[in-house]
Amino acid sequence: MEWKVTKEALATLVTDCLLVVHTEGEDSLQGCTQEVDAALDHRISGLVTEGEISGKYGEVTLVHNWGKIPAKRLLVLGLGKCSKLDLDKMRNGMAIASRKARAAGVKQLTVACSPTLNNRWNPADLVQAVVEGFELGVYRYQGYKQKQEQERALETVWLVMPGVTDSAFEAGIERGRVFAAATNTARDLTYEPANKLTPSILAERALEIANRHGIEAEVLDEQKLNELGMDALLSVSKASAEVPRMIVLHYRGAPESKEILGWVGKGVTFDSGGIQVKPGRGMGDMKGDMAGAAAVLGAMEAIGALKPHCNVTAVIPTCENMINGNGYRPGDVISSFSGKTIEIQHTDAEGRLILADGLAYARRLGATSLVNVATLTGAVVTALGYITTGLMTNDEKWAEEVKAAARVAGEKMWELPLFEEYEEYLKSEVADLKNEGGGPAGSIQGGMFLKHFAEKTPWVHLDIAGTAESNQEKGIHPKGSTGVAVRTLAQLAMQFDRQMK
Ligand code: BES
Ligand code: MN
Ligand code: ZN
Repeated sequence: MEWKVTKEALATLVTDCLLVVHTEGEDSLQGCTQEVDAALDHRISGLVTEGEISGKYGEVTLVHNWGKIPAKRLLVLGLGKCSKLDLDKMRNGMAIASRKARAAGVKQLTVACSPTLNNRWNPADLVQAVVEGFELGVYRYQGYKQKQEQERALETVWLVMPGVTDSAFEAGIERGRVFAAATNTARDLTYEPANKLTPSILAERALEIANRHGIEAEVLDEQKLNELGMDALLSVSKASAEVPRMIVLHYRGAPESKEILGWVGKGVTFDSGGIQVKPGRGMGDMKGDMAGAAAVLGAMEAIGALKPHCNVTAVIPTCENMINGNGYRPGDVISSFSGKTIEIQHTDAEGRLILADGLAYARRLGATSLVNVATLTGAVVTALGYITTGLMTNDEKWAEEVKAAARVAGEKMWELPLFEEYEEYLKSEVADLKNEGGGPAGSIQGGMFLKHFAEKTPWVHLDIAGTAESNQEKGIHPKGSTGVAVRTLAQLAMQFDRQMK
C-alpha cells in the first residue's frame, strides 16, 4: 500500500473514495466531515438526522456523491462517543473501514480526518494509528492454494489532515508502516504449518530478517547446545526428527551503553504434548506454538527498520515437542543451562523448559532487563479470555514500563500475581523444582517456574496463549494469527530510546 499526503480541499479532491468519520450522538458534524457535508448540501447531516448514520463505533456507511463533488463515493466511519474515543478505537475503526473499502473494490482512497477530533492526540500518533489500522486490517495470509483468490487490493491511500505538519506525517507514516509490517511478519510466521516452518527453517527466517536490517545474528546448532549444556531445550526436542536451534540476534543501537533489553520468545514449531499427548481434535492449532518467537522476530524487524537508540538481544529457543521412544518422560530429572535441575511432571509443559534455557542464556549474554513472550498455558484463556494477555513479573517498576508500552500499542495486558506462596506447587523431592504442580493457577505456575530462571534480572513474562489467535475477524485482527506483542515490544524499544537520550 502506498501512502501519500495532500492538502487539497475536499470539495475539489479527485478520489475513488473519500473516508470521513462521525462520532455518536452529535448532530453537528466536525472538521473534515463538516467540510464535505457542506459541499454535499448537507446530505450527510440529513442521513444523521434520519438516523441512517448513527456514528456508532465500527459502523461504516457507503454513500454516493450526488453529483456534487469529484470524489466518486464516500465511506462514513462511526467512531462511537467522542468522550470515549482514543487512538486504539481509531486504529481498529480504520481497519474495519479498510476491509469495507477493499470489498467495495476501491483501489485508491482518501482518509480525511481532523486531528482536533480529540485534542489529546499527538498528530504523528494519529497518523500512525490510521496507517496501522489500514495495513493491519487488510492483512491476509497467502497460504498454499494452487489457485490464488483474485485479490482486490487497496493500492494507494491519501491522507488529508488539516494542520498536521510534514514532519508529523512523515514520522507517523513511517512508524505505522513499520509497526504493521512487523506485526504482519509475525502473523505470517505463526500461520505457517509445522512442516513448512521447522526449527531450522525458523532460524533461516531469523537470519534473513537480521541480514536485511544489518542485525548481528548467530544460530546455535545441536553440537553447540550440547557443549553449553542446554539440557532443557534438548530434552524437549529429543523425540523429534527435527533438530533444535537457539537463535540469537543482537541489535546494537547504543554501543556506548551497558543496558541491554533481552527479548525471549517461545519457538515450539509444533506441540503434540509429548508422551502426555494432547487430545487429537484441535491439535493442529499447535503449529502456532511459536507465536512468541514470531513476535520477537517481528519486533526485531521493526527496530531494525526504525533504529532506536538502545540495545536489544533476542533469544529464541526453538524445537518441536513430539513423541517417539527417545522422548523425555514424566518423572525424568533433567538439567538446564542455568545448572538448576528439573523434575518433569508433565511433558506438555514444555514451553517453560525451553524458555528456562532461553532466559538464562539471555542473562549470560548480558541482558539487563528481560521480556519473554510465549503461548504458555491454556489456563490463561480461562483467566483472561481471548482479549487480554497475561503479564507476570519479578519487578513492578519494569512491569510498569512494559504496561505503558502495551497501552500505547493498543494491546491489552493484565497482571497475575507471583506471590511466593505459589512456590509450593513447584517443590520437588528429587530436583530443584518441578515443571508443573497440577491443580489450580496454571498460568501462575508457569510464571513462577520462569521466575527461577530470570533470577534477579528485572523480567516480565507475557502469556499470549489466548491472544495469539483470533477466532473471528475483529478490528485490526482478521481471523487467525494476530501478531500480538510485536507492537508492545517495538514500542518498548522506542521508549528506551527516549530514556537514553
Ligand atoms: N502450548 C501449550 C499452551 C497453549 C494452549 C497454547 C492453548 C495455545 C492454546 C503449552 O505448551 C501447554 O501445553 N500447556 C499446558 C500446561 C500444563 C500441562 C501444565 C496446558 O496449558 O494445558
Ligand atoms: Mn505443551
Ligand atoms: Zn506449548
